[in-house]
Amino acid sequence: MTLSADERVAQVSKARSVLEDMISDPLEATLILGSGLGGLVETIKPENVMEYRQIPGFAISTAPSHAGRLIIGELGGRRVGIMQGRMHLYEGWSPIDIALPIRVLRTLGATRLVVTNAAGALNTDFDPGDVMQISDHINLTGQNPLIGPHDDRLGLRFPDMSDAYDSRIQAICQSCFNNDGIPLQRGIYAGITGPSLETSAERRFIRQLGGDVVGMSTVMEVIAAKQAGFEVAGLSAITNKADGGADQQPDTIEEVLAYSAVAGDKILRVLPSLLRAWDQDKKADPA
Ligand code: HPA
Repeated sequence: MTLSADERVAQVSKARSVLEDMISDPLEATLILGSGLGGLVETIKPENVMEYRQIPGFAISTAPSHAGRLIIGELGGRRVGIMQGRMHLYEGWSPIDIALPIRVLRTLGATRLVVTNAAGALNTDFDPGDVMQISDHINLTGQNPLIGPHDDRLGLRFPDMSDAYDSRIQAICQSCFNNDGIPLQRGIYAGITGPSLETSAERRFIRQLGGDVVGMSTVMEVIAAKQAGFEVAGLSAITNKADGGADQQPDTIEEVLAYSAVAGDKILRVLPSLLRAWDQDKKADPA
């Protein structure tokens, strides 16, 4: 469905006004928790919890281990809005559905976004259970949440993506992992729609294109976030070897969830210090 520019803006305002009533102070950061990373919410004291279905326009995540809840609380001394569960293209949600929560959270004050996901390793130096800092992405979905009528209230028509995962934040993130003694890989995330996994030939092809890992989320969210004016950090939990070589083993969702818990645990240990170290951003408010 194509929404008019006014409808897109109205969609954001409607969800914002419902959420504003439940949030005492502006947010500073947003976290999107990918597969197997939901455990973080046990470590924070929520000020408020809202099911996506209670928020106008929010799609409902149906993916395994994606709860579908927005949690407002404090982490690393920051006021955060945590998306416990995300929407994926493979569930049938449109790019605009996926962009909506990002836009709404930005209007609630958040300027920092930490996006996490599970991903398969195309790079043979990576192992399941590793954490990879996303240095950049390649959007192979053939889709884009900014396609369609535009309104400047959403941000720029042609947002710059040359430093999408801000290099300044990447350096901060690297030093937080170093301080905690947790190894951190670094590389490029290739986003596909799924839900079928890639063939071995596709994996070798995506590797040649420059991808280090491949996954079924993140790229729509980060495009919407850059338009909205977020600074973005991305962390992938490596869950399976996906190099498409002669030894390629079949992938299972059980393996993906088990290793995302291993890598997720490392991410969760570092998140509070990352948020604490993330100094004040300099972005203008687009709304
Ligand atoms: N491919 C795509 N998405 C994924 C994978 C994979 O190998 N592992 C976890 N998410």
